[in-house]
Formats: sequence, C-alpha cells, structure tokens
Amino acid sequence: MQATTIIAAKRDNKPLSTSQINWFVQHYTQGDIPDYQASALLMAIYLNGMTRSETFDLTMALANSGDRIDLNDITDFAVDKHSSGGVGDKTSLVVLPLVAAMGVPVAKMSGRGLGFTGGTLDKLESIPGFNINLTPTQFKAQAQQTGLVLAGQTGDLAPADGKLYALRDVTATVESIPLIASSIMSKKIAGGAKGIVLDVKTGAGAFMKTLDDARQLAQIMVAIGEDGGTELDVTAVISDMNQPLGQAVGNAIELREALDTLRGGGPPAFREHCILIARHMMMLAGRGQQWTEEEATSDALEAQLDNGAALTKFREMVVAQGGDPAVVDDPTQLEIAPVQHVLAAAADSYVARIAADEVGVAAMRLGAGRPTKDVAIDHSVGLTVHVNVGEKVTQGQPLVTIHAHADSRVTECINALEAAIDLSQDAVKPLPLFYDVIQEA
Ligand code: URA
Repeated sequence: MQATTIIAAKRDNKPLSTSQINWFVQHYTQGDIPDYQASALLMAIYLNGMTRSETFDLTMALANSGDRIDLNDITDFAVDKHSSGGVGDKTSLVVLPLVAAMGVPVAKMSGRGLGFTGGTLDKLESIPGFNINLTPTQFKAQAQQTGLVLAGQTGDLAPADGKLYALRDVTATVESIPLIASSIMSKKIAGGAKGIVLDVKTGAGAFMKTLDDARQLAQIMVAIGEDGGTELDVTAVISDMNQPLGQAVGNAIELREALDTLRGGGPPAFREHCILIARHMMMLAGRGQQWTEEEATSDALEAQLDNGAALTKFREMVVAQGGDPAVVDDPTQLEIAPVQHVLAAAADSYVARIAADEVGVAAMRLGAGRPTKDVAIDHSVGLTVHVNVGEKVTQGQPLVTIHAHADSRVTECINALEAAIDLSQDAVKPLPLFYDVIQEA
C-alpha cells in the first residue's frame, strides 16, 4: 500500500477501505508516514467527509493504536461519560460519584481545561494533596476497591489520536465532524468503556455552535456505537451551552458547587442536568444486564444525593487519591480568593443573554483558565453567576460576583462581563437545559 494512493482516493471523494485506514493509522503512528502526507489526508477528509463505515474504521484504528485498558475484571460493561466541554461544566464531579453510589463502577480518565473551558482535573486539584497521576495498575486497583476513580490519562492510549489532533490543530482541520467523532470515541474505547454517555453541548460556549452541527456529531457517535455491536452502546444528550451551567465558574468554586450538589443542594438546573446524565449512564449499565430500568429511576438517583451516599463515594475517592477530606466535609475550607466585586443590574429588567463563551473568557482573564497549554492556573479565583436567561431582576440585584485577589485583573474581567450580559425591558424566554437525546435504534 502507498500513502499517496490513499490520499488520492480521499481527494477524489472515494471511500477508503478498512485496510487502507488501518494501514495509514498504523504507519503514521510508527512514524513511517510524514506529517505532510497525514496533513494532506486530513484536509481531504475535512473537505470530502467520511462515510459512516469509514468513521467507524477510523475510530477503531485510533483506539487500537496504543494501549487499551481492560476493565472486564471490574465490571463486564464499564460505563463512562464525555462532555464536549463548556463553561461551568462540573457535571463529572457529581455524576460519577452518583452512579458509583448506585453500585456502577466508574473508572474515568479526564483532561485539563484549555482556554475558557475548565477541565475536571484542574477542579479536582483544588483539593489539597489530590493525586491525578495514577499508574494503570493503581487506576484499576482503585476502581476495584472504591468503585470510583477519576484521574489523568494513564498508559499510552490512542497515541495516533494525540499525533493527529496536534496536526489538525495546526492545519485548520479540527472542525470536521467525522474527525471529532472518531477522536472522542477512540479515547473512550481505549479507556475500556463499553457504555458511553455523550453530553454534546451546543451554543455560544460550545464547540458546536448550532443545534444542527451538535445533532450531526451526536448522531455519528451513536452510529459508531451501533456499528460496535454488543461491545459498544452509546447515548448522546444534546444540552445547552449558551449560558454557563450552574452558577460557579472557576476551579475551587466549581468544586464547592459540586460538593453542595452532592449534599442535596446546588442550583436546581445543574442538579437536573446531573440526574439526567446519571440516568442515561445507569440505563447503559443496565443494558449490560446489571441494573434494571426500575432501579435506574430519577427518584433513586435523587435519593443518593439527598441521603449523602454520593458525597460519601466522592469522599472515598478523595481519600484513596491522597486528597484532604476536610474540604469535602467542610467546603468553606476550600481556598477561594478573598476579594469580592459584585456586578449588579442597572435597572428593573429581564436577563436576555449571558454569553457562556464571554463569561468563560472573563474567568480566564482572572486566572481561572489557561490561554495556552503551559500557563499555570489559579484555582481560587472565579465567578458566581446568580441569574439565568429569562429571569426578572430588579435594579441593584447582583448578577455576578467576582472572586479575585487584590492584584487580579478585575477591571478587564468586569469589562468582559458587561459585554457578556444583556438585559432587556421585554420578557425573555428561559433557555432549555436539553434539546435532544439520541440513542441507538
Ligand atoms: N475533543 C477531542 O477529543 N477531539 C476532537 O477532535 C475535538 C474535541
């Protein structure tokens, strides 16, 4: 086989065979195919797309390009979740202990945030001592003993995706639905997941700005699940990311909101979001014949939040990973920046827009996010967004509280927030939490 034949086929919009895709991915991973040929293929895929079976083949070739975690000795149908990323998205911190408290083992690898989307690992590192660097053996042992582990990537998972993603980043080929779908799914499959709940965000603060694009991405990822047969089961939920999720945006402050939610409190919309994602994870775990639909009800999940079982599970994970459980027992011990600035409503009005992306940028300006990979973040700064789109507010009512240090770049943050929020004299419809759920046929 020759790389040029494969590139030419895709350039001419002809479908690639399974063996062509496997060959290209294998030789690119080994370093036998140079970046310029891989770039040409990526651009041809970007321009001409991929069929459903090509997308499945690419997913499996990427998943098989390195180590694959085998969770079969922990559970015969491991479930995982993935969010396409957003502002204030601390869902994993609640959903994973919640389903683990229901008896579903969870072994998840997460990432760090880049730009205005926060990463789960950064939020967890607000806990003094919490260790996200586990070896594959430690990762599996904790999943076995605690039923819950949340760590950074362990082992050499989907290395072809890592190489190709870096190349896509510099060749303007990131925004291709088959490339995004295969990239996300390959990492989940290599991580040992058989049931996967995808939280595909749409709106101003999301990767997929339009509902149509989010739906297309969700559909192709669910199709990958269908093509994977009984070894793979995928549900995609399309959720709103026009405004931030919940109230807290930052790291320690998001962790605090997650802990409030695990205690049965937290913003009602965020709690509802978590229950729905957890329910779909339970349903997939059930399709592996471990939990029945009756056991996976929203009521049962709500009970785990209200009776402290989900919080206890989270605490067990913190202890197992070397974190200080005192902050779980008393979240006021989390270090939150001491200076508070309040942005208030200028007039009696309705909240018309809280642009998630711009709120994320405002938080990043304070130091809560990373404009580039190597920048250190400040876990203690962040924002509390007190209102939702559609809410009626009175003059002087707090819209956002900024948690900063005396020397933080607060003026820049205030300017960004003022541009992010619109008030209107006319009534405004609230935004939905969810737009659609797409499941295998
Ligand atoms: N996230 C991924 O993991 N891959 C992509 O291609 C895009 C987002």
